Amino acid sequence: MKACATAFAVQERYGLIWVCLGTPAHDLPRFPEFDDERLRKVGCGPYEVQSSGPRIVENFLDMAHFAFVHTGILGSQDQAEIVDYDVQRFDSPQWGQGIVATRCRAWQPQASKAANGGCEVEYSYRVPRPLCAILTKQAASGPQEAIALFLQPLTEVTTRVWIILALGDHESSDEALREFQDRIFLQDQPILESQSPARLPLAAGAEVSVVCDRMSLAYRSYLREMSLRYGVLGSDAPGT
Ligand SMILES: [Fe+2]
Repeated sequence: MKACATAFAVQERYGLIWVCLGTPAHDLPRFPEFDDERLRKVGCGPYEVQSSGPRIVENFLDMAHFAFVHTGILGSQDQAEIVDYDVQRFDSPQWGQGIVATRCRAWQPQASKAANGGCEVEYSYRVPRPLCAILTKQAASGPQEAIALFLQPLTEVTTRVWIILALGDHESSDEALREFQDRIFLQDQPILESQSPARLPLAAGAEVSVVCDRMSLAYRSYLREMSLRYGVLGSDAPGT
């Protein structure tokens, strides 16, 4: 019997092992905050979710659910309104290429493990690859911190979720930071798993959108341009 060894492209980056089963067409997503020595890095998860990768990214980009899904932590039902924000394309050596939302503001009862009481927080969200999203927010003091979402599709509608924190909080234990993130994610999970269809519809008008969904609409448009076919429903025939 002949031995057969297959070599794959492998990299260790952001505390994760990345493997390409084919020929890499792109570099890894760029997450420059990970290299900021002022920020402390903690890996969370993985979480296995019965939903498509694009649904999970879209939920991550959505501030409107804070008041209802993360009540008392990331939002408050008596301050549920989302003020308008900016969405644009980026193409830079630092971030790569993709879409970014800036000036995203929310009042949060407990914006992080380290927060002492409520405050208004300003976020940015950027998508450098279809199954990756990074949010930044200004910590109570110190540098801007970041949370990266990296998705590993297991099937079109089953996803392993990795979350990497790059935080200014050097006081809390790793366990406490993971517990805080677990608590947030476990609130999102039933919402993600109840969305129907599980694959994200890309047809314009396939789902009802309101003004605060501009980033979500930009993400769907970006996926159409990238010709993504996995974990989505086609843009030409809604419901197919
Ligand atoms: Fe959430």
